[in-house]
Amino acid sequence: FRTLDTADLAGKRALVRVDFNVPMADGKVSDDTRLKAALPTIEKLRAGGAKVILLAHFDRPKGKVVPEMSLQPVVAPLSALIGAPVAFAADCVGDAAKAAIDALKSGDVILLENVRFHAGEERNDSDFAKALAANGDIYVNDAFSAAHRAHASTEGLARLLPAYAGEQMRRELEALDAALGNPVRPVMGIVGGAKVSTKLDLLNNLVGKLQYLAIGGGMANTFRFAQGYEIGGSLCEKDMADTAREILAKADAAGCKILLPQDVVVATDLKPGVATRTLDLTGAEKLGPEDKIFDVGPNSLAELLAAMDDSKTLIWNGPLGVFEVPPFDKATVSAAKHAAERAKTGKLVAVAGGGDTVAALNAAACADDFTFVSTAGGAFLEWMEGKELPGVAALANK
Ligand code: 3PG
Repeated sequence: FRTLDTADLAGKRALVRVDFNVPMADGKVSDDTRLKAALPTIEKLRAGGAKVILLAHFDRPKGKVVPEMSLQPVVAPLSALIGAPVAFAADCVGDAAKAAIDALKSGDVILLENVRFHAGEERNDSDFAKALAANGDIYVNDAFSAAHRAHASTEGLARLLPAYAGEQMRRELEALDAALGNPVRPVMGIVGGAKVSTKLDLLNNLVGKLQYLAIGGGMANTFRFAQGYEIGGSLCEKDMADTAREILAKADAAGCKILLPQDVVVATDLKPGVATRTLDLTGAEKLGPEDKIFDVGPNSLAELLAAMDDSKTLIWNGPLGVFEVPPFDKATVSAAKHAAERAKTGKLVAVAGGGDTVAALNAAACADDFTFVSTAGGAFLEWMEGKELPGVAALANK
């Protein structure tokens, strides 16, 4: 794909797809990570003399104008981050958009209203894409985190205008390539989360590529159940037992060592500060029907950290335990700190992504020391599943 380094920007109207699908509370942006992620591209375009026209979606208005899903609340924090005014147009196509864009000078920035207010966006309708394209000379896709959607502003536009990858898109793709595409081995994965069923494709893809795969969270219970261990009243998808055994067999055949918790932290209730016990699943004392596994125990954590010490690359998606409720954050926080420490000293390429994962790293206060933390949720998962992302493919075909 082409990067902005090769683009002739002076005086050009640059239609830039960003991902401003940000958390909001009481009509205000409550986490500006994705706004900050767009800054390098915006700065580069402004410095090159382009007119910066930002296209984005917010939430899922399903092709209708839903005032609560306006992008207007993004304008003030974005303008503060850029240190310059950001104009706003109440529609992303049509007269309102055109008039506002015609008034722009080189270096100016405008944000257009939610592209998903038009049904043509998600349908990837060619007329809608043409209406968007009418307001630009070049297209820049900086929304890796929306690249799993084949929509007009993420995919269609790339076919209508000279198309470039923005800086955040480029950073995401480079980091993901360093983690799974072309990694320094041994490569370790940490995959957590509640359910095996939502991460089947991901697990199947990873076992063929990694040397170590640590499985945590609720999904580890399903694997342990499938192996015949007593897991008490823990979260478990019993109907996934065959699938879990297939994944274990596939990993074995591919030479991928699977790490599953053998000692576990259990409690009868999920409450902060609740009394906990640490049990070994292979030990004489079995989990009772009331016992629920909420975290990885210290011995299995130590085994996981040792595997990390043996690895040169780490890719992480999903917490190891219920990190939102201490003390069940222990394994996740310890593993995150260990990875961050090794990444900081250049011993490990550590890449993480997915909504919960980023929240867990932030809770452990070590996201900054990771080699790269993706801004993507669903797109990161699809990429880990080995799927082609339409927004990326459209740029790559250029
Ligand atoms: C995200 O928040 O992961 C992206 O912006 C995609 O949003 P979507 O799942 O509504 O398409």
